[in-house]
Amino acid sequence: MASLLQVEDVTKRFFGFTALSNVSLDVAVGERIGLIGPNGSGKTTLINCISGVLKIDTGAILFQGENISALASHRRAKAGMARTFQIPMPFRSMSVVDNLMVPLEYIVHGLIDMANVESVYSEAHESLRRVRLADRMNARAGDLSQVELRKLELARAISARPKLLVCDEAMAGLAAKEVSEILDILLELNSTGITIIMVEHIMQAVMRFSQRIVCLSAGRIICDGLPEETMSNPEVRRAYLGN
Ligand SMILES: Nc1ncnc2c1ncn2[C@@H]1O[C@H](COP(=O)(O)OP(=O)(O)OP(=O)(O)O)[C@@H](O)[C@H]1O
Ligand SMILES: [Mg+2]
Repeated sequence: MASLLQVEDVTKRFFGFTALSNVSLDVAVGERIGLIGPNGSGKTTLINCISGVLKIDTGAILFQGENISALASHRRAKAGMARTFQIPMPFRSMSVVDNLMVPLEYIVHGLIDMANVESVYSEAHESLRRVRLADRMNARAGDLSQVELRKLELARAISARPKLLVCDEAMAGLAAKEVSEILDILLELNSTGITIIMVEHIMQAVMRFSQRIVCLSAGRIICDGLPEETMSNPEVRRAYLGN
């Protein structure tokens, strides 16, 4: 399988503190990867390094074979990388569909004018349909429920037409039924060709979703294997799952 993302020996320090230590990860086109680890183990930091929110100190990040370590985050977005944020922060006073016009204008189309506004709106509608939020397209983003906010965050990410989607706890704080709905949406997105890395603490969801599970602990990858392998790995159990 062709490689989509390669994280090569990446180290990230915050002043004296090493948040990521020689992290290497290879993600193939079409894969579904679960990324787990205790609080503070470096999961969000790794997403920030992949998406370009943070600059890495050493190592390299390759996307579709190209070294993108020095690219700004908006350039990575244009290249096909999208991520969701652990805490969604939509433009609350804007409608759901207008929230999507922002990435559509800045990442996909450039300035939207009267000539193409209709087609861009229908594209936004399609993203909302894919995350099962189309019926709320005219609601104020500030009026959405938790699960709807998570869906809007996903719609925002996929509206940029990504090849890779990295989700930072897209299910946190949701009820079981809602977790299962978000999981279904992510599986559907993956089946349309989007490679997904899912950071998640809800282990049942991680197990159902992942073809491979990677575990971080104190900034290091301590296991990268098939779900059963990672879950039964003694070091993972000690660091994260408990016995
Ligand atoms: N901007 C920053 N400046 C200083 N330290 C930071 C910064 N961002 C993260 N850290 C530290 O790096 C470590 C890893 O944090 P990170 O947010 O990546 O953890 P996480 O695995 O995502 O945790 P959680 O499961 O709680 O979301 C933590 O000790 C955190 O305090
Ligand atoms: Mg985090």
